Amino acid sequence: HFDEHDSFWLFGYGSLIWKADFAFIERRPACIHGWARRFWQGSHDHRGTPAAPGRVATLVRQPGALCHGMAYRIEPAVLAQLDLREKNGYLRARVAVRFDDGGAEDGLIYLATEHNAAFLGEAPLAEMAAQIAGAHGPSGSNREYLLNLAEALARQGVYDEHVAGLAALLPPVEGEC
Ligand code: BEZ
Repeated sequence: HFDEHDSFWLFGYGSLIWKADFAFIERRPACIHGWARRFWQGSHDHRGTPAAPGRVATLVRQPGALCHGMAYRIEPAVLAQLDLREKNGYLRARVAVRFDDGGAEDGLIYLATEHNAAFLGEAPLAEMAAQIAGAHGPSGSNREYLLNLAEALARQGVYDEHVAGLAALLPPVEGEC
């Protein structure tokens, strides 16, 4: 049994959408206003290496934008585990989480801003796609991260132009037809 103080909402917009390998009490499709998902954070420890860093999702402020994702209600202890998993430049920030089926709650996001050393920032979409296609790290290929995210969003009925644009620009994998 959980009351408000034993749990809170974490809004996931990246790997948390498709890799929910942590204990959660419930999850609900949700969105946050004023934020846009961008592959602007470098990953040299998960989806790339220091020599060939990958690109993973972060959020940037964009008035009028909507970022769709998945909200998880979790206990505080779970957040401590996730803080370890999600190191490499991400901080926690507070946001208003709006559930797709109505209602809103205060929640948390992990956010990588330009003030962290791994931040890469904007680049032409084709350049970002090429970088993603060539990056592999301990967590797997960067390509797989992008495609898993694109698929999970599509399953939720979400169209994200940035994610879809990057996925469309990935070069074909050799041996695949
Ligand atoms: C997310 O899915 O929200 C997320 C996952 C890892 C690091 C930061 C954010």
